[in-house]
Amino acid sequence: MSEPLYRLVYYSRNAIVGDEATLATAISSILTKSQVNNERVGVTGALMFNAGCFAQVLEGSRSAVEGVFERVQQDERHGDVSLLAFDPTPARAFENWSMGFVGARVEDAARYGTVGPQSGFDPARMTGDGLFEALHQLALEEEHTAY
Ligand SMILES: Cc1cc2nc3c(=O)[nH]c(=O)nc-3n(C[C@H](O)[C@H](O)[C@H](O)COP(=O)(O)O)c2cc1C
Repeated sequence: MSEPLYRLVYYSRNAIVGDEATLATAISSILTKSQVNNERVGVTGALMFNAGCFAQVLEGSRSAVEGVFERVQQDERHGDVSLLAFDPTPARAFENWSMGFVGARVEDAARYGTVGPQSGFDPARMTGDGLFEALHQLALEEEHTAY
């Protein structure tokens, strides 16, 4: 029998200092690294950057998700990592994404990334379920427009 699936949802505050290009380059390198690491341990999920915050969903076996989240928390490119949910889940929501980037494109996210909560996105005010739904909806829209 395969291991039970877990879903983890967190948000954090950006700690990358620099102009838009610096931010875009840093996010791209986080994504590239994450895709390789996650693929290796069977973790899937999505990452979003907005209003100076990251929000991320990780899904996979409990031990694999814990291992990835450990690495995530050690990365000094963000801080104030706040865990919103870590629960068993019946199925993957990001089956095809070792780590997808949802919402704005990396360059656009960098441009708007320092805009404050007035942009309407404030993960600190969202529940784990709410944040998961938001990222899932964006991922579905992106998969839809990709074809
Ligand atoms: C916002 C954010 C999201 C991240 N997401 C992942 C992830 O999904 N998977 C992962 O392995 N590392 C993730 N990381 C961690 C970094 O990419 C980390 O530096 C890297 O995994 C370290 O790998 P290394 O020790 O093999 O160099 C994330 C870091 C940040 C800041």
